[in-house]
Amino acid sequence: MEPAQKDRTPFSDIDGLPAQMSEIVLDALTAMGRHPEIQRVRRTALDMLRPEPGQRLLDAGSGSGEVARLLAARVGPRGEVLAVDHSSAVTAAAVSRHDGSNVHYLTGDAGDLSLPDAHVDGVWCERVLQHVDDADEVIAELIRVTRPGGRICLVDTDWGSLAFDGMPAGLADVVLGHVHGHFTPQQHDMGRTLRRRLVAAGLRDLTATPVTCVFATPASAAVVLPMVNPDVPEDAWATPPGLRDEWLACVEAAGASGTFLAVLTIWVATAATQN
Ligand SMILES: C[S@@+](CC[C@H](N)C(=O)[O-])C[C@H]1O[C@@H](n2cnc3c(N)ncnc32)[C@H](O)[C@@H]1O
Repeated sequence: MEPAQKDRTPFSDIDGLPAQMSEIVLDALTAMGRHPEIQRVRRTALDMLRPEPGQRLLDAGSGSGEVARLLAARVGPRGEVLAVDHSSAVTAAAVSRHDGSNVHYLTGDAGDLSLPDAHVDGVWCERVLQHVDDADEVIAELIRVTRPGGRICLVDTDWGSLAFDGMPAGLADVVLGHVHGHFTPQQHDMGRTLRRRLVAAGLRDLTATPVTCVFATPASAAVVLPMVNPDVPEDAWATPPGLRDEWLACVEAAGASGTFLAVLTIWVATAATQN
């Protein structure tokens, strides 16, 4: 049986975390949004969604609301952005960062939105589907709320693409064998499945672009990859005794010698709803 959404990664149910952990997760979200490689992914997605002045857009699973505010700048004062997130703690954090632009922050489930049919011109859904129980159900809901001929942009990680260089042969595979499905979602290949899911949903004008993020230092990688972040508490690892310390020592050594490398592909897939 598939694990329930709340049994997955911290991002699946931020409100269910102890307060201290939810602060850590919120800070992590903000730091990720500022990372140049995540910004590169977002530029690709923006080019593909092509938001226009006057549009009403939905950011589903909007996190700290950064992208919603970015989209608000594109749709301008005549447009609006609905930023919906499952977590009330995240929604409150997003509201506290509001910049006065035309964003409305709502708590809600992307798979069961309180919005009328055909309510928005376009949808952005970034790094959310990997955390939900049924991605196709969420995609169907995003299609329902999009007007005919509107555009849907899905951004998601392919954790199966994660690879390292600069460490002893085989060690990364051992570590990833332990942390995939633990630090990363069970649905770790979500990114590469986006195109197929949009085809199956009957959309048109599909594009799917892999953006391979490159991390050339452990510090840069740690912002996006929990398994190289020494600040992730030891008891969160669930790896055999000694493995975490051995791995992190190798990561640090590779960083010191300048040979550290990590790569991770994030996919951007867009399509239009039928007219
Ligand atoms: C990795 S974060 C990404 C946030 C934001 N899209 C970004 O790129 O910064 C995943 C977000 O999805 C939200 N989320 C998870 N499941 C959700 C659901 N079923 N409906 C709406 N939001 C959800 C989480 O609360 C979290 O804020």
